[in-house]
Amino acid sequence: LDEKIWLTLSFGMIMAFMVITGYQTFALEMGPPSNNELIDPQKVDETAPFNEPGIKQIGENEYEVVMTLQVFSFNPMDIEVPAGSTVHFTLTSKDVVHGFEIAGTNVNAMVMPGHIQKITQKFDEPGKYLVLCNEYCGAGHQVMSTTITVK
Ligand code: CUA
Repeated sequence: LDEKIWLTLSFGMIMAFMVITGYQTFALEMGPPSNNELIDPQKVDETAPFNEPGIKQIGENEYEVVMTLQVFSFNPMDIEVPAGSTVHFTLTSKDVVHGFEIAGTNVNAMVMPGHIQKITQKFDEPGKYLVLCNEYCGAGHQVMSTTITVK
């Protein structure tokens, strides 16, 4: 009888964890980048907005950065924004899975081919922020970095 209790208990725990994971993924949208904005990774250069990667001012203290990632660089590289700016990043990969981590902030995203990743960050503190790829993407992974200068 003891064994049955423990079996039931552990099965119940597994079910509870699955329900929690499902809730986080779908109800809280904590899952991987959404499937509803799929693009063809072979045609990134022809697909808006990625046909015009770059930085654009869209409001007072508000910028939009359209960026493509590919082995082993970011396009555009080394962007600059004034202190106090809110920056909306729209990212995709042209080849394999890359990471987009801005050191010293909470920004840490996965950038997958075929998916659009959107992330917003406010930069209050002036400085040079290091942007790193934190997903292993091949032989040059460790040199895949750029900077965001806030002044
Ligand atoms: Cu890109 Cu690692």
